[in-house]
Amino acid sequence: MHISAASKKGYFITFEGGEGSGKSTQLKLLSTYFEKSGLPFIATREPGGSENAEKIRSLLVSGAVDSWDPVTETLLFTAARSDHLNRIVKPAITEGKIVICDRFFDSTLVYQGIGKGIGEVYIKSLHNMVFGNFMPDLTVILDIAPEIGLKRADARRGNENRFEQLDIKFHQNIREGFLQIAQNEMERCVVLDATKDTETLHKQIVGIIKEKCGVFL
Ligand code: TMP
Repeated sequence: MHISAASKKGYFITFEGGEGSGKSTQLKLLSTYFEKSGLPFIATREPGGSENAEKIRSLLVSGAVDSWDPVTETLLFTAARSDHLNRIVKPAITEGKIVICDRFFDSTLVYQGIGKGIGEVYIKSLHNMVFGNFMPDLTVILDIAPEIGLKRADARRGNENRFEQLDIKFHQNIREGFLQIAQNEMERCVVLDATKDTETLHKQIVGIIKEKCGVFL
């Protein structure tokens, strides 16, 4: 089931970036900002965000690095996304809410498509087959050198470290992949320097959202 242009009233904002790029912190700050502004919104994440997708998340983010082959892993991320989109994201957008989501399709494109070698064509075709042309209205990419990001992530993470265990080259490819997406899709994507302090970044993000979806603010 896809939302038609006519029924789509809300706004879909995704946050992307490598490990330790500060997405979760920025999502929390933005949630507080939206709450104070009285805006209708939900904050969610991938993999996860719905009851079933959270169950799939636990299979994907912990355990041995090679516990899934790349194709099965891709299909699991897609299955989690399908449940999350159909039960949480699309209904909220139809109700006119802003949806802010920690990771989405761009993560699959870079982590599985590039990092795990599945290929861009495969990932895009799969997305198209399952979700049609459903894509974010705005994507904020928090850019950070993996050497710094992985140190930050290491300091806070429990057992959700399956991807962090991959080598530095993998994470450099992930960073390059996100920057490439931003170059290809300048209308949808904004890249921010994730080494800036938290408050400065938050203000930048609010400014971008005001500019891009002024209708809500
Ligand atoms: P998180 O740490 O940002 O919550 O994300 C969990 C991990 O899942 C992170 O290492 C990136 C990875 N991931 C993919 O490999 N493909 C995807 O499609 C998504 C959404 C996340």
